[in-house]
Amino acid sequence: MASELIHRNQTTQTPPVDNPSKPTTFVKQSTNPLQYMLRGQRLIFVFIGITIAALFFKAFPLSKHHQESTHLTRRVLFETRHEGSYVKRNVGGKVPLGVMRKSLRIVVTGGAGFVGSHLVDRLIERGDSVIVVDNFFTGRKENLAQHFGNPKFELIRHDVVEPILLEVDQIYHLACPASPVHYKFNPVKTIKTNVVGTLNMLGLAKRVGARFLLTSTSEVYGDPLQHPQAETYWGNVNPIGVRSCYDEGKRTAETLTMDYHRGLGIEVRIARIFNTYGPRMCIDDGRVVSNFVAQALRKEPLTVYGDGKQTRSFQYVSDLVEGLMRLMEGDHVGPFNLGNPGEFTMLELAEVVQETIDPNAKIEFRPNTEDDPHMRKPDISKAKELLGWEPTVSLHKGLPLMVADFRKRIFGDEKDGGSTTNSMSSA
Ligand SMILES: NC(=O)c1ccc[n+]([C@@H]2O[C@H](COP(=O)([O-])OP(=O)(O)OC[C@H]3O[C@@H](n4cnc5c(N)ncnc54)[C@H](O)[C@@H]3O)[C@@H](O)[C@H]2O)c1
Repeated sequence: MASELIHRNQTTQTPPVDNPSKPTTFVKQSTNPLQYMLRGQRLIFVFIGITIAALFFKAFPLSKHHQESTHLTRRVLFETRHEGSYVKRNVGGKVPLGVMRKSLRIVVTGGAGFVGSHLVDRLIERGDSVIVVDNFFTGRKENLAQHFGNPKFELIRHDVVEPILLEVDQIYHLACPASPVHYKFNPVKTIKTNVVGTLNMLGLAKRVGARFLLTSTSEVYGDPLQHPQAETYWGNVNPIGVRSCYDEGKRTAETLTMDYHRGLGIEVRIARIFNTYGPRMCIDDGRVVSNFVAQALRKEPLTVYGDGKQTRSFQYVSDLVEGLMRLMEGDHVGPFNLGNPGEFTMLELAEVVQETIDPNAKIEFRPNTEDDPHMRKPDISKAKELLGWEPTVSLHKGLPLMVADFRKRIFGDEKDGGSTTNSMSSA
């Protein structure tokens, strides 16, 4: 039996189908494409086909919508690559074409806390949709009660140490206990929040193509040997001290943020926040302003640690929120110092609190805590130049707003309460 395998250019025997007994004729199959095209007037039929197709597409062009969307898609992609301006970016590819400015979908981790809740107020006011992710370790639902029922607002009880998947355009990552009392309460959890929590949120940013902002801290400068501190200063931090879970945790969070940016092309922003005060701070959280205010209101002595000559700068929360939003919307990664360069010794601060609340309040000296930095004052030249930002609210203006909020929460005095960033916006 003959093999069924036939090689190219081979001469084959083709028995006539009608009568297999007829003598076999030999057919030579040509494989030259030019000869093939010229044979049997095939070329003429090809030209006729092309002409018909051309006439058809001229008579019925592609739909206008298809042409426009192709054109717009190209334009949006071009702007993403070539324009520095944030407004023109197609963040996450979710911009409905033809809409001028889309309302963004933003997640704020730690949004039930002091700074986070004021940030949420501003974002909602701007018309964006906000998802707050918080485990309520130091945050409170009451800080966000004004947004309950608003369809643009969602609150998720979640610990950032666990991964979460959300479709968002921007991530403000604030989740972390910020006061010494709280971050020393469970140091292992604090460093986990800073490292694993930040990794999880960077992973989310990568997955959904969101822009990521880290709220780092002036604590990355440790007990600084340079004064005031510029962003170029690398700090003087004790890696094994009782504050290290926070200081070194934030330093690692900054490292992770930059590595995701450099290595994976994630859009990131880093803010180094200096001491901030205002309504909704935790009462009795060990931070000096909240301590003094709560003590003066309760007619207790103001506790000053050490000799009271260590200095701090105090920024009102609306100034910080304005700086964070400018940073997120701007073109610069940072890090940026966000703080008020006005410098006060602890004793000077105690005097302002006495003037504002109770001139007869007593001052009590206590031994200083371990690793307490001696001086802290931000150099904000970079933020001034590149973000066009600087604080506008002085301690004398901001403190009474905080006092009103604390008075309401401590004594339930509804008349004096209700201060928010909106009543002292720096915008
Ligand atoms: N307030 C300041 O003076 C200051 C200074 C420097 C840096 N910061 C930074 O700003 C951010 C906000 O600080 P704040 O003053 O509003 O503090 P805060 O304690 O009031 O807010 C922190 C929020 O994060 C939440 N949180 C903590 N751990 C979490 C976790 N594992 N998962 C989910 N949520 C968690 C808390 O419940 C709280 O709502 C922090 O990252 C802090 O390090 C603040």
